Amino acid sequence: MEKRYFTYQEIHKTAKSMAEQITACNFEPDVIVAIGTGGFIPARIIRTFLGKPILAVGIAYYDANDKPTEFPRKVQWIEEAEHQLAGKRILLVDEVDDSRTTLEYCVTELLRHHPAAISVAVLHNKNKEKRGTMPPEVSHYIVGQQLGDVWIVYPWDAKDIDLHDSLAQKA
Ligand code: G4P
Ligand code: MG
Repeated sequence: MEKRYFTYQEIHKTAKSMAEQITACNFEPDVIVAIGTGGFIPARIIRTFLGKPILAVGIAYYDANDKPTEFPRKVQWIEEAEHQLAGKRILLVDEVDDSRTTLEYCVTELLRHHPAAISVAVLHNKNKEKRGTMPPEVSHYIVGQQLGDVWIVYPWDAKDIDLHDSLAQKA
């Protein structure tokens, strides 16, 4: 599969464009919910532009015995965070919309806590057939950059960031 390397510099600019899109569609969130771990850094950059607090949720694809599961489930999903979401306008942030399974799951879980509104923002959406569907309650779906079905290599996964950046430049 084709690999696409993205630098921190590119990620920062893409996150800025997401914040601008959110402002342009007049969706003012009360809170950013970051899906860990890929959503943490994009959410933090968006906070620089929107200045809203971040709550973090964790999702796992394995069970208590470390066996893979077909669908995601909640881990580190702080109950206190859930109670804070009632009546709030949520911006849910993740790094990539690949199969859409995680996003569908997280939106569905968040809707159980009666937010006033929910929008979704991802750095990258892969234009491919999706397993999950975006629930109709999602008022805005914001994409930093549209991609094909490539394998994205994020800078936070780099063991050697200089090598990573040189591979990103070559593309
Ligand atoms: P989606 O529902 O949000 O579309 O994602 P999906 O469940 O299909 O993705 C499962 C895991 O695979 C996620 O990581 C997601 O970030 C990761 N993933 C999907 N496509 C790519 C890609 O092109 N590059 C990289 N680097 N990762 C990809 P996760 O299990 O939630 O782990 P984490 O890294 O977010 O902690
Ligand atoms: Mg992820």
